[in-house]
Amino acid sequence: MIEDRLRWNKRYSEGRESVLHTSLTRFYHLAPKGRALDIACGTGETSLYLAKKGFDVDAFDISDVAIRKARLKARREGFKINFKPVDAELFSFGLSKYSLIINFYFLNRRIFAKIRRALKSGGVLIFETYNEEHLSINPNFNPEYLLSKGELIKAFGDFEIIYYCEVSNTTTLVARKP
Ligand SMILES: C[S@@+](CC[C@H](N)C(=O)[O-])C[C@H]1O[C@@H](n2cnc3c(N)ncnc32)[C@H](O)[C@@H]1O
Repeated sequence: MIEDRLRWNKRYSEGRESVLHTSLTRFYHLAPKGRALDIACGTGETSLYLAKKGFDVDAFDISDVAIRKARLKARREGFKINFKPVDAELFSFGLSKYSLIINFYFLNRRIFAKIRRALKSGGVLIFETYNEEHLSINPNFNPEYLLSKGELIKAFGDFEIIYYCEVSNTTTLVARKP
């Protein structure tokens, strides 16, 4: 969506940078080594972290400004990461391709089925984003982008749930595809 790209490009042009999330550093090692996918990767900190840990990383984000920054960072540090500036709904996820899929602070329910198919059996999904409680902190946040209670458990309930936590305005799921 053009408006989303423009909105996020503006934020990244104004200096926004992505950050490393604790649930990544805490749980990434549960995934078998192989190919990892970083969904809505922003400026690529997660992707770079995973590349340093030995994963082959694909990553995408709708913001071409963020992807440019991410590519620059990876090049400077000597890592080859496959960054793509593309809308989540247009990305080609593939089938049983990834050992690890990361989805941080991005929510598009229309890609849930693609995430499920793209994970290898034994592969791990780490999904963390805001839930409905976020409205009490930021009443202007678009509710469409907020998880309801238990939503990730319902969506990935047939996976082995390694960790699930709804605390304050954030929900975290770590799950393994059977
Ligand atoms: C809150 S940021 C999270 C970035 C990163 N995952 C992190 O946790 O630091 C949301 C990201 O989603 C990206 N985004 C928004 N809409 C998108 C879409 N339709 N397809 C792909 N990326 C999108 C934005 O450009 C932004 O980088």
